[in-house]
Amino acid sequence: MPQGVRKILATSALPYANGPLHLGHILGYIQTDIWVRFQKMRGHECIYICGSDSHGTPIMIQAEKLGLKPEVMVEQIRKEHEADFAGFLIEFDNYYTTHSPENKALAETIFSRHVEKGNIVKHTIKQAFDPEKNMFLPDRFIKGECPKCGAKDQYGDSCEVCGATYAPTELKNAYSTLSGAKPIEKESEHYFFKLQNYEKLLHDWTRNGHLQEEVTNKLDEWFKAGLKEWDISRDSPYFGFQIPGESDKYFYVWLDAPIGYMASFKNLCAKREGLDFNEYWGKDSQVELYHFIGKDIIYFHALFWPAILSGADFRTPTAIFANGFLTIDGQKMSKSRGTFIKARTYLNNLQPEYLRYYFAAKLSSRTEDLDINFDDFTQRVNSDLVGKYVNIASRCASFLNNNFGGVLSSTCAEPALYEEFVTAGDSIAEKFDTLEYSQAIRQIMALADRANQYIDEKKPWTAAKDPARQQEVQDICSMGINLFRVLSIYLKAVLPQTAKNVETFLDIAPLTWNDRLKPLLSHTIKTFQPLTKRLDKKEIDAMKEAAQQDFSTEAKPLAIEQTASTIEPIKETISIDDFAKIDLRIAKILHAEHVEGAEKLLRLELDIGSEKRQIFAGIKSAFAPEDLIGKFTVVVANLAPRQMRFGESQGMMIVASGAGKDLWLVSPAEGATPGMRVK
Ligand code: MSP
Ligand code: ZN
Repeated sequence: MPQGVRKILATSALPYANGPLHLGHILGYIQTDIWVRFQKMRGHECIYICGSDSHGTPIMIQAEKLGLKPEVMVEQIRKEHEADFAGFLIEFDNYYTTHSPENKALAETIFSRHVEKGNIVKHTIKQAFDPEKNMFLPDRFIKGECPKCGAKDQYGDSCEVCGATYAPTELKNAYSTLSGAKPIEKESEHYFFKLQNYEKLLHDWTRNGHLQEEVTNKLDEWFKAGLKEWDISRDSPYFGFQIPGESDKYFYVWLDAPIGYMASFKNLCAKREGLDFNEYWGKDSQVELYHFIGKDIIYFHALFWPAILSGADFRTPTAIFANGFLTIDGQKMSKSRGTFIKARTYLNNLQPEYLRYYFAAKLSSRTEDLDINFDDFTQRVNSDLVGKYVNIASRCASFLNNNFGGVLSSTCAEPALYEEFVTAGDSIAEKFDTLEYSQAIRQIMALADRANQYIDEKKPWTAAKDPARQQEVQDICSMGINLFRVLSIYLKAVLPQTAKNVETFLDIAPLTWNDRLKPLLSHTIKTFQPLTKRLDKKEIDAMKEAAQQDFSTEAKPLAIEQTASTIEPIKETISIDDFAKIDLRIAKILHAEHVEGAEKLLRLELDIGSEKRQIFAGIKSAFAPEDLIGKFTVVVANLAPRQMRFGESQGMMIVASGAGKDLWLVSPAEGATPGMRVK
């Protein structure tokens, strides 16, 4: 084994197994994957662990909505996530699940050690309870009117209209988003972890180089507010692990989720020889342990987790790295703008390495948000990857392939230039190691410029015309290929697929970091094949279009009907500005009729005050035309008209939709007249 081999265990946050991954999720995994691949290339022993976070109320509710057992749903989604990760060339050493026997056993061990230490206490608390669904309600399942400004449909913790924060009990006319019922208060006994017992340990730990500076500063606010007991139990029904000795109480998902890192590793120990769980997780472990997470889950990883670990006699993490959030075209991802892009939708349209490169070119070690601007994206991919990097090989390869049987020169034409490339590797390595990827990429691209400049100066195409200068042509092009090979080493962690293709083209073993030290001499290469193709703006447009389709309800029917007992949870919020764009008007239905040849549509004529409108609405299953005539309802009046097979539809009618095929007319109170604005 080479000297100075580091033993490293790296993890990425365990994604919730209740829905598809989007590009925001992918950011953190690409960041980690690049780092892990880099460490492996350097000859270190680095293991990359992840898995599904499979427990909790949202997962239980989602499974119920789909009519599936949670165990079945989380397995399905785990497979989808694994396929998405593989698509982005993210390579885990193990991808497991928190719903596993290993995790159950570890969670119980950790819990009982804390019980013995007196860190767990029980209190009876009052909580919101849904009397219809017969379950306690997490805050996000309660809505009502803001106690400050009266805005409707606000969540239990804060108002999106006026920004007020409050307790869910302060909401006016509160209702459960699961059943619509008014929540009642109910008592229940809960288990609490006494986080404050670890105040000193955490205070020191968070300041001793384990965290990014901005994260330490953020945590300061929590220390100032004082560490509080942490509620680690949930009442049945819940999808999770039962608390030992209890029949209807479960561990809160955030207790067993990070333990899932250990469980995934333990699962790997059973599959891979020579791995010792205690060497990695024991109190005196010398292995480096890094958790890569998004900035929204710092609290759980930087406060609870070190306390939970150390109190249960396990090692604490070496460091935690938090990445910022992803925005697209300068804004939060939006379903209607086609910028809420699912991992799968991206993969169906674009190459994974474009995104890996773009993220690398923009990532730093700080917890800053990262924006994808698709014009910038296209331009970077084309100018850097195609125009600079791959160009070096394509300029040199054909001369070697055509005139020299693919054989590289026996000596290096410009040892000083080659040495410059080798030496730059030390600084580039330091940038990768410290997560300063954008700086690494900048240095690599400066080298690519340098290589192109060398070829420009030497002009092998001119020398090629002179029979007396053939050796020169071979030397220049061999030099170019060798510089390209060094750049391929530096980019390999970012572009693993391209690196494989380069290895095939050069006919060499998988490249490692130290391979850069010696150039390839007197070696025969294969015929050059294009390594990356130019990105056409049309491909981006096609992806955005597909992303928009993903969330258009007309595009595809819901696979599984909602069950009668559930109300769809609210999925995404919109800003007040988004809302202000929607012009809702009171309309009177003047006429309604069947449409010949249409299975679902009725044709309506409406009076919206200022004008008459024709609308085709997919409501035939629920209404007889004659029952609608003369009724008042609400329409979206400023929806762009749409040409349909049967005529132009000039707006959209609002209906209430419940279980199955039932629809209800949304009607204003008496006295409202056509054209009134609904706000
Ligand atoms: N299940 C928890 C993590 C448990 S770790 C023991 C969770 N899951 S998640 O699916 O919501 O998020 C997975 C990861 O994606 C987290 O690191 C989260 O911070 C990150 N991101 C989710 N949305 C993101 C963006 N829009 N942008 C960047 N990262 C994002 O949290
Ligand atoms: Zn308000």
